Amino acid sequence: MATPAAAPAGGRAPAADAPVAGRVPAPPPAVRPAAADVGARGGPRPVVLDCDPGHDDALAITLALARPELRVLGITTVGGNSPLANTTRNALRVLALLDRDDVPVAAGAERALLREPWTPVEFHGASGLDGADLPEPRMAPRAEGALALTEALIAASDRPVTLVATGPLTNVALLLRARPRIHEEIERICLMGGSLGAGNTTASAEFNAWQDPEAAAIVLGSGIPVSMMGLDVTHRALFLEPDVARLDALGTRLGRVWADLLRFFAAYHRRRYGWDGSPIHDAVAVAHLAVPGLVTTELLRVDVETAGDLTRGRTVADREGLRGLPANVEAGVDIDRGRFVDLLVEAIAASG
Ligand code: RIB
Ligand code: CA
Repeated sequence: MATPAAAPAGGRAPAADAPVAGRVPAPPPAVRPAAADVGARGGPRPVVLDCDPGHDDALAITLALARPELRVLGITTVGGNSPLANTTRNALRVLALLDRDDVPVAAGAERALLREPWTPVEFHGASGLDGADLPEPRMAPRAEGALALTEALIAASDRPVTLVATGPLTNVALLLRARPRIHEEIERICLMGGSLGAGNTTASAEFNAWQDPEAAAIVLGSGIPVSMMGLDVTHRALFLEPDVARLDALGTRLGRVWADLLRFFAAYHRRRYGWDGSPIHDAVAVAHLAVPGLVTTELLRVDVETAGDLTRGRTVADREGLRGLPANVEAGVDIDRGRFVDLLVEAIAASG
């Protein structure tokens, strides 16, 4: 891929989509805050969750199913926190825990578009969802797979669908490449991933963007409205020990299971960051759609590094517009943590 010439002395580098003979410029991004979406009006926002459960993905599923503002059409899984077989089994175990057999689940990509997979076992344990006694799946994943299921759910929806992606973006990128016209039926892609600052997998990159940087670049360059809930906001979305004690106090089976899961998840973050709890990264993407105003956002131009070694998967925010490119994401930068924790406790209390 031709790279822009070096910036003239004291000037700006030519914009990446500067007219080049034979090159079709990308569509201008339709960036807008999620609260301005049309599809959210006139009833619950239809969503498809694409995830790699994972403790925080599991809590994102629980929150999405509990919120009246959202209608979960289906769940697709991707390899990430754990191999695909585990993330798919875990999504099904969460639905069994919630006594929900009305939500279809389909498995997607085992690995990234181009990169070798790497599983961070210490985050979520060998099963991908260690720490509690969870039920076995009560249904099988759909035979058609993630791409076909997502396409069918979008086609059957009476309004544009929001994709909520909380794992590596491989499935979403494959969908956009395989079905280019499906852009018109997708309201928004609300993703957990990236960071405007330091990473958590390398010094440069957050795990989901690092695992499949090419997929992340495809999604951020798609022209579809994107909400990016990166580490800047999710590291403020901490579920602390006093919050876990509220789950114990519920006196319910689900409260006890989630208290066990979150204490397991917290152990890693206590060792690594010294926090008294865990960032519930993925649930921020769901909470942002369910409760407008909970997350503070900025409209920014963000691009993904795919060529660097040390910088692989870095999501680079051009805050000053030095490249002359329009904003393409609504990026989360802060959250009302107390309200966020209340949403999670209320969802667990309401789910059994
Ligand atoms: O970096 C955090 C993200 O990576 C979360 O989605 C977590 O579940 C892992 O997938
Ligand atoms: Ca995840």
